[in-house]
Amino acid sequence: MNFQNRVCQKLHEEHAAVVAMLERLAQTIARHRDSAPDAKDPMVAKLLNDLAAELPGEVERHFAFEETELFSYLGEAGNQEIGAHLTHEHGIIRPIGAALVKLIGDVRAQGFDAARWAEFRRLGQDLHDSLVPHARKEDMALLPMLDDLMDSEKETQLYEKYVEHM
Ligand SMILES: [Fe+2]
Ligand SMILES: [Fe+2]
Repeated sequence: MNFQNRVCQKLHEEHAAVVAMLERLAQTIARHRDSAPDAKDPMVAKLLNDLAAELPGEVERHFAFEETELFSYLGEAGNQEIGAHLTHEHGIIRPIGAALVKLIGDVRAQGFDAARWAEFRRLGQDLHDSLVPHARKEDMALLPMLDDLMDSEKETQLYEKYVEHM
């Protein structure tokens, strides 16, 4: 999937990156279904590092940009429904992501015990099951709509705003 509009393309690339990371998360959970892995296992440690490093940007920053800049833009163009629906989903996903990042902080300090592993599996699966469909929905519905609608002046303004504040 490729978009002419650079804002759409950037968000699409972020969706692909977060979906790939969430698939690794789901695979790790499935692989260690019966007992907690060693948090220092290189593959597990890399996953924990990547989640802690990437989720704040992929969730907080990305969601805030969509809500403040894109959903309001579509609202002004007469379509408030899609923004309201996606904002509702953001409200469900945000606390799961924040709780997972916080838990990863504890795991890095103390490792996994049975309770922390059970909590990690629950939050990780919930994040996967909510954020993967959300990103796909935006790829299929939101981004094509913006790609059609947005003029190049608005595109440049939003692209600079989003990418220059990385
Ligand atoms: Fe979103
Ligand atoms: Fe998104």
